[in-house]
Amino acid sequence: MTLAATTRPRSLSSYLTSAWIGDDRYDGLDAVFSEIAEGAKYIQVKVRSATLADVIGTTGEINVQGEIVQLSDMAASDKFVEALSDCGRVAAVGSEEIEDTVFIGDGAKQNFFEQMDPLDGSSNIDLAVSIGSIFGIWRREGDEPFTDEWLFRPGAEQVAAAYVVYGSSTVLILSTEDSVQGFMLDPNSGEFILTPPDLKLPTKCSCYSANEGNFKKLDGPTQQALTDLRNEYSLRYVGSLVADFHRNLLKGGIFLYPGDLKAPNGKLRLMYEANPLGFIVEQAGGAASSGTRRILDIQPEELHQRTPLIIGNKDVVEKTVSTMSGGE
Ligand code: AHG
Ligand code: MN
Ligand code: MN
Repeated sequence: MTLAATTRPRSLSSYLTSAWIGDDRYDGLDAVFSEIAEGAKYIQVKVRSATLADVIGTTGEINVQGEIVQLSDMAASDKFVEALSDCGRVAAVGSEEIEDTVFIGDGAKQNFFEQMDPLDGSSNIDLAVSIGSIFGIWRREGDEPFTDEWLFRPGAEQVAAAYVVYGSSTVLILSTEDSVQGFMLDPNSGEFILTPPDLKLPTKCSCYSANEGNFKKLDGPTQQALTDLRNEYSLRYVGSLVADFHRNLLKGGIFLYPGDLKAPNGKLRLMYEANPLGFIVEQAGGAASSGTRRILDIQPEELHQRTPLIIGNKDVVEKTVSTMSGGE
């Protein structure tokens, strides 16, 4: 009997220590990603016990540690702000849950700032449905003192982005300007393991993701675009952007949350939903558009601004955008 050759799985910590040696653009990014991973590990435990905590709470009992384990969007936000502050490399964090940017410090080594959706799809938390966290990462230029102006930089200037899905497994996807790497949490060792590496969108689009219940609110060309997708692809819609995006990245697909007649800018947020996922999809060979322009080219005006989002396989995004603008 011959034994199959085996290779040791590569851990996140091993990847981070060697990924960007000598590349100044990413100096300190290993510490930032490492803290995101630590925050994600903490939150995935809370996600898995959130509903149970509700039940325990209503019976008036308390868990053995005597702590309340319920998870809220705000608690997730606090956890990541704390983790990113601790790593010493982040100057400021914008969060969906906090009205104004959290300033951490402008020391010489604090050369990144972040925008995050700490819990995406949080209305699914009690339903055992996948949710996640999303991060966009920009580099602080020079050593000038912090001003809010720093933060209003377009997505094209991101140097990295990441997201986590708390699903049937916990996955962490990291992207820099040259790659998209997938990691999966091994619940036994507590380590993130590199898989799948070097992610690229499959060339074939297999599904579309949209809230079909909004159909009547859409303008004619957008209805036409959605009808075209419906006629060609399978519908898959989780209702957590990050989970829908992750499936489409692995299987090939398009996600769209267009503007409608009542909400022309749609629902999703530019800085911490569209920009990070737009960055990742482009590194993976796909595209992200607002319907009128490339997501990453939008000049932000405020932290919590919304944008329509059409994201996924490039050819299908382009065709959908063309139909939405009245073309064929
Ligand atoms: P969040 O939980 O961060 O507020 O985001 C919810 C978003 C997004 O995850 C998802 O794609 C979208 O809401 C779903 O909206 P609909 O329920 O309108 O389809
Ligand atoms: Mn969200
Ligand atoms: Mn959120």
